[in-house]
Amino acid sequence: MSKTIIISNRLPVQLKISEGKLTAEPSVGGLATGLKSVHRDGDGLWIGWTGLMEEDTPEEMEPEIDKALAKLNCAKVNLNISEIEGYYFGFSNRTIWPLYHYFLEYTEFELKFWESYKSVNQKFADAILANANEEDTIWVHDYQLMLVPQMIREVWPNANIGFFLHIPFPSYEIFRTMPWREEVLEGLLGSDLIGFHTYDYERHFLSSVRRLLNLDVSFNDIYLENRVIKVDSFPMGIDYQKFENAAKENAANSEAEKSDFQKKLDEHKKSAPDTKLIISIDRLDYSKGIAKRINAFEYFLNKYPQFKEKVRLIILAVPSRSNVPQYQLLKKEIDELVGRINGELSTVNWTPIWYFYRSLPFENLIDLYTSSDIAWLTPLRDGMNLVAKEYIATRTDKTGVLILSEMAGSAYEMNEALLINPNNFEQQADTLKKAIEMPKEQQMARNMFLQNRLKRYTVEIWANEFMQALLAQKEGSLATF
Ligand code: UDP
Ligand code: G6P
Repeated sequence: MSKTIIISNRLPVQLKISEGKLTAEPSVGGLATGLKSVHRDGDGLWIGWTGLMEEDTPEEMEPEIDKALAKLNCAKVNLNISEIEGYYFGFSNRTIWPLYHYFLEYTEFELKFWESYKSVNQKFADAILANANEEDTIWVHDYQLMLVPQMIREVWPNANIGFFLHIPFPSYEIFRTMPWREEVLEGLLGSDLIGFHTYDYERHFLSSVRRLLNLDVSFNDIYLENRVIKVDSFPMGIDYQKFENAAKENAANSEAEKSDFQKKLDEHKKSAPDTKLIISIDRLDYSKGIAKRINAFEYFLNKYPQFKEKVRLIILAVPSRSNVPQYQLLKKEIDELVGRINGELSTVNWTPIWYFYRSLPFENLIDLYTSSDIAWLTPLRDGMNLVAKEYIATRTDKTGVLILSEMAGSAYEMNEALLINPNNFEQQADTLKKAIEMPKEQQMARNMFLQNRLKRYTVEIWANEFMQALLAQKEGSLATF
């Protein structure tokens, strides 16, 4: 029987070994949280990296690791320190990530990163060849594995291969700066179907294919000698029910059942009932615009001083890629900004910014979503931004205001949110004021539209649509040739 193989850099869990004991934690980030719901309901296999370094993994623990992963229908690709440095921290996160998010000034073109990327992509392709067969449906995910589709195609010419990019695809003018641009495109073209979150990313990709490879592109089909490749947009949804149910359970909790975190939030609300809570939740990443947001908050408090002591900004910044120098610099910048602004503006009764640098368990994430009055998300570029969708899904009484950057993929589907340009402080200050003062009926009217849309296009439907398009493409392509 043929099965579906998901392949991504990260597995849904991250393994750790401490004092000879194996533990697992859920992976953070949109790809893992989204695909987890899809994988949970299927009987396929998910192949990826465990988060462990080969050098830190005693050989005698390998069977225990394999067994633990097999229980989750997962299989591992082992990476050593030099591969993690070159492929993951290097080419994936010092070349592709900044380039695709339009941070050219952070982009490093290093031959040794590229060489490592190629050989690790081959390792992932080999893991597929060892764990799957040609009749299976192979679904490759994200920018870390862009060469894998072609590597599989070379061995299995009739394989059914889909690829989905979870981050933006930049315009041709940006993409063309990469020395290995043709190889990357050729790697992706091993697929039968290539999916993006938005029509704009799809358009950028097709334009690069046309101009760099001189291929015949008609609408969203790319014609090769013996195959047709379909390119399309599939905006990723969330597991709506999971967030809605968690929020409902949260609201029904007795005092004793509440988390300590929720109790603290309640205490705060009781002591300052007319203070509005604004939350922002992101990985600590320069693409998320966290430092700009803090500056914009200060600007807002200076422009509208009547809101001093009446608002509090809670920043949850989840540690991410902390070996990459730009992330270390950003961490320092944010620490200093928060320190300076709190130092300058705090009063005996009020600290303007609460800053958490950690990841929170799911339950506390829901506490945050449900306790806040406003979610303020200001990415400078973001493939999708699932946090925006999760926030709306948890607002079971339909109150709450979402302020969202128009540079996030999710903004295309969330027109009823207050959309802002994260570089425009004037606009953001005015929008914060509008959000604070927005009548409940207006909040509810906006959220009703947003919720209905998110309920209709869940992550499960997203995955099904992708799979159906992949099968249809395969059949259509075979019929053509
Ligand atoms: N998230 C998490 N733990 C946290 C904070 C956030 O697992 O402490 C999740 C959040 O629920 C969301 C994902 O991380 O599903 C972030 O996805 P998003 O698309 O917003 O951004 P990405 O991190 O993928 O760039
Ligand atoms: C984004 C990427 C994912 C990645 C996640 C977390 O969502 O699209 O591929 O897994 O960030 O980043 P990390 O580098 O920790 O895997």
